[in-house]
Amino acid sequence: MTQRVALVTGAMGGLGTAICQELAKAGHKVVAAYHPQFDNKDEWVKEMEAAGFKDFIPVAGDVSDIASVQAMVAEAEAKAGQIDILVNNAGITRDKMFAKMEKDQWDAVIATNLTSLFNVTKQCSAKMAERGWGRIINISSVNGVKGQAGQTNYSAAKAGVIGFTKALAQELAAKGVTVNAIAPGYVATKMVMAIKPEILQTIVDSVPMKRLAKPEEIGFACAFLSSDLSGFTTGATLNINGGLYYQ
Ligand code: CAA
Repeated sequence: MTQRVALVTGAMGGLGTAICQELAKAGHKVVAAYHPQFDNKDEWVKEMEAAGFKDFIPVAGDVSDIASVQAMVAEAEAKAGQIDILVNNAGITRDKMFAKMEKDQWDAVIATNLTSLFNVTKQCSAKMAERGWGRIINISSVNGVKGQAGQTNYSAAKAGVIGFTKALAQELAAKGVTVNAIAPGYVATKMVMAIKPEILQTIVDSVPMKRLAKPEEIGFACAFLSSDLSGFTTGATLNINGGLYYQ
C-alpha cells in the first residue's frame, strides 16, 4: 500500500485523536494539527506513544487565521512531505438560543468551523490536483443536516461545510481529488459531554440506537474516505448518527 501524508486539524480533541489513530492504522503518516493555545500537547503525544502511535507529527496553527495556517502547512510539508489527505476536523461550539446569542459567539463558530475550510484547503487542494491524487474530508454534523435549537451558529457552519464539499467536489472530480463530508451524530467526546446531563439524556433517548457514537466509528470512515478504493466517492455526505436523522 502507498503511504500517504495526512493532515488532521483539531487532531488532539476526542474525534481528532480517533481520526489520527485510524489513519495511522491504515498505514498513513499523520500530521496532527492543534491550536497554539492548547496546553496539553506534550501529554497527548505521550499518551499516543503509550498507545503505540509513535510517529504522529504535531504542528500548531489557528485554523481561523489564514496566516497562521500558511505557516502551519509549510511546517507540516517540511516535516512530513506534501499533504495527500486533509481532514478538516477542527470545530467548536458556542451553544445559545438565538435570542440570547451574541455576535462574538456567531463569529467564533463561523470562523473556526467554516472559514477554516477555506484557510486550510486553500493550502493543499491545488497541489493535490497537480499531483493527480488527493482526499479531502470535511467533518460536518447531524446538526448541520437537521438543524438544532441552541445551535444556529453551529448548524449554519456545518450546513456550509456540506455546501463547500459538494461545490469543491465538482471542481476537483476530474483531477483525482475527492471531496467528501462526514456528518457525525452525537459522539462520546468532551464537546458532547459538556451538554447538561438532562438534555444529553433526552438526546440519547431520541437516537434509535440509544447510545452515543464511539469516536473510532467516525475515524474509521475517514480511513475509508482516504483509501484508493474510495476513489469514485465524491461530493458525498456520510451520515453516521445511529439512525438519528437522514435526509
Ligand atoms: N426546541 C425548541 N425550544 C427549546 C428546545 C428545543 N429543542 N430546548 C429548549 N428550548 C426552549 C425552552 O423551552 C425554553 O423556552 P422558554 O424560555 O420559552 O421557557 C428555552 O429554550 C430555554 O432557553 P435558555 O436559553 O434559557 O436555555 P439554556 O441556557 O438553559 O440552554 C442551550 C440553552 C445551552 C442551547 C441548551 O438548550 C442545550 O445545551 N441544548 C442542546 C444543544 C445541542 O444539542 N448541542 C450539541 C452540542 S455537541 C455538538 O454540537 C456535536 C455535534 O456535532 C452533534
